Amino acid sequence: MEVLETGILFRYGHDDQRRGRWKAREMEELVKDYTGASHALAVSSGSTAVACALAAAGIGHGDEVIVPPFTYLATIEAVLLTGGLPVFADIDDTLCLDAESIRAALSPNTKAVLLVHMCGAAADMDPILEVCRERDLVLIEDAGQALGAWYHGRSVGRFGATGAFSFDFFKITTAGEGGVLITDDETRYGLADSYADHGHDHIGTNRGMEQHPILGFNYRISELHAAVGLAQMRKLESIRTAKRANKAVLRAAVEDLPGLGFRRMPDPEGDSGTFLNLLLPDSGTAQRGVEALRAAGVPGVNYWFTNMYHFINQWDHVKNLDAAAPLAIHSLGAPQDYRALELPQAQDVIGRLISVGIGCSWEPDTTERIGGDLRSALASVLG
Ligand SMILES: Cc1ncc(COP(=O)(O)O)c(C=O)c1O
Repeated sequence: MEVLETGILFRYGHDDQRRGRWKAREMEELVKDYTGASHALAVSSGSTAVACALAAAGIGHGDEVIVPPFTYLATIEAVLLTGGLPVFADIDDTLCLDAESIRAALSPNTKAVLLVHMCGAAADMDPILEVCRERDLVLIEDAGQALGAWYHGRSVGRFGATGAFSFDFFKITTAGEGGVLITDDETRYGLADSYADHGHDHIGTNRGMEQHPILGFNYRISELHAAVGLAQMRKLESIRTAKRANKAVLRAAVEDLPGLGFRRMPDPEGDSGTFLNLLLPDSGTAQRGVEALRAAGVPGVNYWFTNMYHFINQWDHVKNLDAAAPLAIHSLGAPQDYRALELPQAQDVIGRLISVGIGCSWEPDTTERIGGDLRSALASVLG
């Protein structure tokens, strides 16, 4: 309402009319405070935050970028649309890229690793940082699903050159649509800040007379979206605390079931609590488990293995490089045969994975009931 009252829905300029209301800036301040990053830039989506993160880290035309086969498509699209060449490496039971698979996918042309912290928790950072250091690779973090996730006291998104969060409707905090890039590097921040707004340098108060040090595009967030994102940022820690508590109840309800495993979490204390990630003995049992859970009315059940957006098996358009218009990869050639990739760990782990989304507003008796339903449904398929 404060934004609507001033009528200034744009994040830049109009200093007199906006009566001191700068929602995008305030949202950025809260993301900085929360993550400890020196710089934050709110943009129009998590996808555009990843695009900005790549550009600000100097990744572009012809650069080979290591990516996981389990992520949201935006990760892969961001590389392709920036002119980069995705190289798929395998993941492990952390649900994220693992250092050995990154090593195996390296070529003399590898420039960067685009690490995705999937399903609300951090990847196994120490060995990944080691391989990046060893091979002088730029690390970029797609933390689209992982705001509120930490690795031994450091927020995800702060291990590499740049990091990206999503504030879409399905994330721990939403702006309706929105994203935030973070970095500790002032130069990279300056590049992202300009890149996201047609290259404007944002110096001075006369927007019409700003310089354009670089080419950019429009990845701006609106003040309306930023106002929602700001309000949500204020609630982030309470949402995280509630999710972690509810998740603990669900986990306790099924912990002792024989044959049931869980996603490996290198730092359990750093979990944002958004998903309980269950590993069934095999994909057949997992698929029967999904049916049983849905029949029991357990909310938020995700089976990514067959989901259209998150797993490579369904990405025919990526494999065929179907695009609206030619991309760099069409003339440069793909660095791998995407139709013949061998990613055995991903096929195994994602086939066995069921993720249960955790609510932050469940009443205690609801959480207990879901825990009971979860247990009986899983017990019925585990035998
Ligand atoms: C890992 C990851 N990266 C990027 C994105 C893209 O975010 P958005 O939907 O805000 O564009 C998502 C969204 O689901 C995501 O999960």
